[in-house]
Amino acid sequence: MKITSAEFVISNTDVNKCPNTGLPEYAFIGRSNVGKSSLINMLTGNKKLAMTSSTPGKTLLINHFLINKQWYLVDLPGYGYANRSKKGVANIQRVIGSYLEKRMEMTCLFVLIDSRLEPQKIDMDFLNWLGENQLPFAIVFTKADKQSKSRTESNIKVYFEKLKEQWEELPPYFVTSSLSGAGKDDMLSYIDSINTSLKKN
Ligand code: GTP
Ligand code: MG
Repeated sequence: MKITSAEFVISNTDVNKCPNTGLPEYAFIGRSNVGKSSLINMLTGNKKLAMTSSTPGKTLLINHFLINKQWYLVDLPGYGYANRSKKGVANIQRVIGSYLEKRMEMTCLFVLIDSRLEPQKIDMDFLNWLGENQLPFAIVFTKADKQSKSRTESNIKVYFEKLKEQWEELPPYFVTSSLSGAGKDDMLSYIDSINTSLKKN
């Protein structure tokens, strides 16, 4: 699939004010600074679409981007940013929680994990919460350009060993770099296959 148009539509803290067009959407979540906004820019080929920053805590709202006039990419705030105030953390959690619990259009959640790190408790807890709430998701290992291919592969192996302790079935996954564009075709094909199957139903 080729992305021919990508437009910013609206930013929200309120899930009830998100677009009510009924189109399917694919949301990006993960720790602050993991590369959610950069990945959206990489997939759409527009470096200025979603705001990115080397300082964590850049994205604070639910941001909808309309793609090819047919589906949305959704940029969410990051979780687990230690330097936020208690109130700030609670606010972000409320925004994310209400989106995930209420948004019927949310078709697949891409959970971003830094490919350089060993499994982090905060991500494991979040994945388990998704499982308990039966939300559809895939894992995206980010920033693969920052280390060798073999290092990425061995880290992913460790990750899935850890997941196997709790999960019977492992989720689909992608390895990406917003710098090199790695993973772009695979992710877009995956989204395209889901969109196609939704149209058939
Ligand atoms: P918040 O909105 O704060 O939650 O962060 P985010 O997850 O949206 O991260 P963002 O896309 O803003 O990227 C954070 C930093 O990581 C920026 O400095 C990016 O340039 C850098 N970055 C993101 N993805 C990659 C990648 O694939 N490779 C490299 N080398 N750097 C990346
Ligand atoms: Mg962001």
